[in-house]
Amino acid sequence: MKVLFVASECAPFVKTGGLADVIGAVPGALKPLGAEARVMLPAYPALKALVKGGTEVWQSADLMGGPATLVAASAEGMDLLLLDAPHLYDRAGSIYLGPDGADWPDNAQRFAALSQVAAEVATGAAERWRPDVVHAHDWQAGLIPAYLSQQAGVVPPTLMTIHNIAFQGLFDPALMPELGLDERHFDREGAEFWGRLGFLKAGLAMCDAITTVSPTYARELMTPEFGMGLEGLLQARAGDLTGILNGIDTDVWNPETDGALTAGYSAKALKNKTRNRKTVLTRFDLDKNPTGPLFCVISRLTTQKGLDLLLDAVPALVARGARLAVLGSGDKDLEAGFVAASHRHPGSVGVIIGYDEPLSHLMQGGSDAILIPSRFEPCGLTQLYGMRYGTLPVVARTGGLADTVIDANEAALTAGVATGVQFAPVTAQALIHAVTRTCDLFAQPRVWTGMMRRAMRHPVGWDTSASAYMDLYEALRQRG
Ligand code: ADP
Ligand code: GLC
Repeated sequence: MKVLFVASECAPFVKTGGLADVIGAVPGALKPLGAEARVMLPAYPALKALVKGGTEVWQSADLMGGPATLVAASAEGMDLLLLDAPHLYDRAGSIYLGPDGADWPDNAQRFAALSQVAAEVATGAAERWRPDVVHAHDWQAGLIPAYLSQQAGVVPPTLMTIHNIAFQGLFDPALMPELGLDERHFDREGAEFWGRLGFLKAGLAMCDAITTVSPTYARELMTPEFGMGLEGLLQARAGDLTGILNGIDTDVWNPETDGALTAGYSAKALKNKTRNRKTVLTRFDLDKNPTGPLFCVISRLTTQKGLDLLLDAVPALVARGARLAVLGSGDKDLEAGFVAASHRHPGSVGVIIGYDEPLSHLMQGGSDAILIPSRFEPCGLTQLYGMRYGTLPVVARTGGLADTVIDANEAALTAGVATGVQFAPVTAQALIHAVTRTCDLFAQPRVWTGMMRRAMRHPVGWDTSASAYMDLYEALRQRG
C-alpha cells in the first residue's frame, strides 16, 4: 500500500503545532502494517540541506511564477518529497506568517502549488512511484481533489483529514485562473464558501473520504457550534466521515530516555520526577517548596485554547498554594495577561513567552498537572504527553480531550480508572472548580500516585489508530 501524505508541517523538521507531530509519527506507525508512506512538504529553509542531498524526481520551469523541483530525500526514518520552489517557500520567519504577523500575502499560491504538484505525483509524474491513496491534511492540501478532477485518466482515491476546522484557507475567487483551477469548481457544492474560495471546503466536498482526529470532534463538527459553517456539508457526508484518535510517538516522548529531562523516570520508579520538578521551578523562577501542585501550560495562546479563562482562575490557584508555569506564544493580549499575572504573583506564576521544544519536554517531565481549558480541541496532544509523563491532565470536556482523559470522579476513583480531571462547561468558574479538585487530589499522595501510574501505563501510542487508517486506505483502494 503506497500512501502519499501531503501537509504543510512535519516534526522534527518544521513544527508550529500538533499537525507536525502527527505527520512525523504516522508514517512510521504504518510501516509495520505494510504501508509505504511518502510525506510531501514545501522545502522551507529548514529543509534546504535535505534538498541538496536528495534526488530530483520532477521539475517545472513555472510553478505559480517561478521554477520548481521536487526532490526525494530520506531523513529521520521518513521518505520525503520536498517541493523546492524558492519564490514560494525560501524565506525567513514563520511558515505561515510574514514579519508583520499577518498571513503571507501569497499563501493561496504557496499552498495551491503544493496541492497542484501533489496531484501530479498522484498520477505518476514523479518517476516510478505512484501512490494507491492520497492522504491530504488540512486546508493547505485541500485543493488536491480539485486538481485531480482536472486530470485525464485514472486518479487515486483521496482522504482528507481535518486537524482543525477553524483554519479553512479562504481566498479571493478571482485568483482561480492564476491557481490553475477550473471555474466550474466555484460552486456551492464545491469550492465556494459564502463568496470566497475555500481550500478546505473544496477538499471536503470533493475527496473520497474524510477523517478527523477524534470520535467526539467528528460528531461535534456536524453541529453549528463547532462546524464553523461547514456543518451542513459534513452532515451531508456523515457516511464518509470518521474520527480516528491521534496517538503520540512513544519513542520521542519517553520519560525514561528523554534527553531534555534532568533525570529519567518510569511508572515503576517515579522518584526522579522530583528532580525535574526542581529544574522547572528554577527555570520559571518559582518558589522551591510549593505546598500544592505545579501546574503547567504548553500551548499556542489563542481563543481556541481557553487560556483567558485561566487568567481568571490564577488567584484561586495561587491561594491553594499551587504554582503555575506557562510556556506559549500567540495572541498579544494573552501574552501580556500572563506576564502581568507573573508580576502580580511573583514566585507563584512563571511565564516564558516563546516556542521551545526541549523546554516543553522538561515541563512535561517536571510538572504535576497540565491545564488544557480549550473551547474546542480536535484531539490535543499535550494531554497525551502529560499522561505518558505522569503529569495529570486537567481538561475541558470537548473533542479529543473528552475521548482521552478519564475524570477522577468518585466512581472512576473507586473503579481505579481515573487518569485526570475533566470539567464542563468551559467557564472560569468550572475551571476554578477543576483546579480545586486537582489540589484536593494532590493532597492525597496515594490517590495521586495511583493516578500518575495509571496515566503513564495508559496506551497512547499509534497502534490502534494506525490500523484504522490502514483499513480505511484498503477500503478506498477497493472502491477504486
Ligand atoms: P495544536 O496543534 O492545536 O496547537 P496540540 O495539542 O495538538 O495542539 O499540539 C501542540 C503541539 O505543540 C504539542 O507538541 C506541544 O507540545 C507543542 N507546543 C505548543 N506550544 C509550544 C511552545 N510554546 N513551545 C514548545 N512546544 C509547544
Ligand atoms: C490541530 C488541533 C489539535 C490536534 C492537532 C493534530 O492543530 O488543534 O487538537 O491535536 O491538530 O491533529
